[in-house]
Amino acid sequence: MTAPSIPSDLHRFIHGLPKAELHVHIEGTLEPELKFELAQRNGIPLEPATPEEVRASYDYGDLPSFLAVYYESMRVLLTADDFYDLAMAYFRKVAGQGVRYAEVFFDPQAHTSRGVPFQNVIGGLRRALVDARRDLDVHGELIMCFLRDFTAEHAMSTLMEALPYRHWILGVGLDSDEKGHPPVKFAAVFARARTEGFRLTMHCDVDQENTHEHIRQVLEDIAADRIDHGSNAFERPELVERIKERGIGLTCCPISNGWISEGIKEREIVGLLEAGVRVTVNSDDPAYFGGYVGDNYVRLAEAADLSREQLVQLARNSFEVAWLPNRARERYLAELEEYARDARRLSA
Ligand code: HPA
Ligand code: ZN
Repeated sequence: MTAPSIPSDLHRFIHGLPKAELHVHIEGTLEPELKFELAQRNGIPLEPATPEEVRASYDYGDLPSFLAVYYESMRVLLTADDFYDLAMAYFRKVAGQGVRYAEVFFDPQAHTSRGVPFQNVIGGLRRALVDARRDLDVHGELIMCFLRDFTAEHAMSTLMEALPYRHWILGVGLDSDEKGHPPVKFAAVFARARTEGFRLTMHCDVDQENTHEHIRQVLEDIAADRIDHGSNAFERPELVERIKERGIGLTCCPISNGWISEGIKEREIVGLLEAGVRVTVNSDDPAYFGGYVGDNYVRLAEAADLSREQLVQLARNSFEVAWLPNRARERYLAELEEYARDARRLSA
């Protein structure tokens, strides 16, 4: 039996669609095969014994159960070369899924707290960004995330440690376990980050306790430039209005939602898109959730029966809310519009 032609056309259209990825944790791109390679290189014993067994063991029902697996795996990441290999593997993968530009999260505290020097992390990642741009024509930038279940003081000292590398870091974010760790806990850290010239974003993970209040805090108390996830705003018209007024983007991750909450949240994501919110589609932790950014577009398109125009709008949003200089943004948008025009012509 041959595969039905519509999904494969859709797949081809989506993977060719020029897009930006704005929500991917580089540590969440650690595929089991690379984990084994790095463990061997660094002399770290691993159980279970094969990449297939590692994959088969992935089973999370919520954010904390995912995070436990995610942090545990990081112990194989030690040297600058490890971080370089991790990031290059990501860029190679997404170069084949239409990604032209990526703003990539990294979690320095998850490494410095294990004794890995900050310099190893940023040095390896930076080298990969330079090589990916030269060899793959994918432009990457870094967003440094603070772990919200660590103290605000720890975040502040990490911000200070990052200042010598500020020209390599576009913005700061907030991730890890949200329960009991509201955005305002980090108000002083984010205010300082802004005065240092960083752009600001924060996670409001799906279906978290106090999610609407957390989204309000990100919008009003922190005045961040973007929200990561944030799709629960759909349940509160006043939040939707505020997001639209501010023109800020939401970085949604459908496949990730399906692992850590109920369903991929297509109703909320598409509802926000139709309400005129600048929603984007991203992968979050693709090695752990089994889908890179193009796969997330496909999954959402199939679940919500999205039109080609809606898919183009999602990609357009990704460049519009990216922290790009205007000239580069215009260039990517022109590339996208040309792709969309050619696709319309072919299907007419
Ligand atoms: N949410 C919060 N923290 C994270 C995530 C996420 O989806 N992925 C990696 N760190
Ligand atoms: Zn995330």
